[in-house]
Amino acid sequence: MVPAVACELDEAGHRVEVILGQEARRFVGPAAFGAAALVDEPSQKPRAVLYAPATADVLARLARGIEGRPAAGTTVTPDLDAGTASHGAVRENLRLLREDGFRVVEGQEGAMAGAEEIVARVLGGLGGPMSGLRLLVTAGGTREPIDSVRFIGNHSSGKMGLAVAREAVRLGADVIVVAANIERPEPGTENHPVQAVEELREAVMDLAGRADALVMAAAVSDFMPASPVGEKIRRREGTTSLELVPTADVLGAVTGRYPDLFVVGFAATHGDPVADAREKLGSKGADLVVGNDISGEGVGFGSDENEVYVVGREDERFVPRTSKQEVARVILDTLIVEMERKR
Ligand code: CTP
Repeated sequence: MVPAVACELDEAGHRVEVILGQEARRFVGPAAFGAAALVDEPSQKPRAVLYAPATADVLARLARGIEGRPAAGTTVTPDLDAGTASHGAVRENLRLLREDGFRVVEGQEGAMAGAEEIVARVLGGLGGPMSGLRLLVTAGGTREPIDSVRFIGNHSSGKMGLAVAREAVRLGADVIVVAANIERPEPGTENHPVQAVEELREAVMDLAGRADALVMAAAVSDFMPASPVGEKIRRREGTTSLELVPTADVLGAVTGRYPDLFVVGFAATHGDPVADAREKLGSKGADLVVGNDISGEGVGFGSDENEVYVVGREDERFVPRTSKQEVARVILDTLIVEMERKR
């Protein structure tokens, strides 16, 4: 897993140098680390240091100062068995490390955290253009219960919102995700799972209080059943009808309550995305609206690609069909510039 971490950090544009421990030399060779260089000593003062995997011995040496003063921005990723991980002395060492400013990235029950999580935390600590900013992102699609087994949902996969969250972590932001029906939390973020619009609204209204910006990428249901049923509606009841009432407009409410929050909305449109986005800038009080035409094939819902217009109050930017990761990057670059302008 460590070679994968080194390769990803290299792909993110950083010079990576790897110092292998005695044991590791017996198992892995330079080829595993791709373009990352195997060295005996760092060639210059590093901007970030990663100890992975960190054994109980390494943790003790770092915590008790045996390794000398830690470099700023040091991350340790313990790799322990469950028994060792819960040992009082090890917990105490981890506490000392955190107190000393180390970033400690732990997995489940002592096991090493996943490569993605480690990469996200190391990149996040490098002080990118979003460092110091707290970004709230909604992702996924809401589900409104009809009865105990059925719901009104939509085709959102959450890929666009999670791409924004991932990219923001890499740019140094503290990222909070309100995840509507998404199975896997985005590594390196604070995750708040929700299902229905009402839950999403409560989470967003609360969390927006500690955010500088909000990217509202979730596909939020515009309607919900007027009176959901607690049990399962039986087939033998025959033809039935469903009365729908509008849900709360979360975006509208959040811009009303937090006028200083920088807000990015989305507008999925059949037709002219720019006109719709412009209309939503006004009606929702957003600072930016990302408009896309969902009638195009292979873009938008569920797809890995998107083609959008990022529409601000003064100008707009067309992003031709590309990966959602690239689209996320353009959205965040625009957000950084526009936030600066708004201040
Ligand atoms: N949104 C919201 N609360 C809702 C519905 C949507 O906050 N109840 C947000 C979405 O997350 C998105 C933006 O509003 O960022 C636009 O959503 P959309 O459904 O396209 O717009 P609406 O104005 O709600 O409805 P429509 O265009 O369908 O009339």
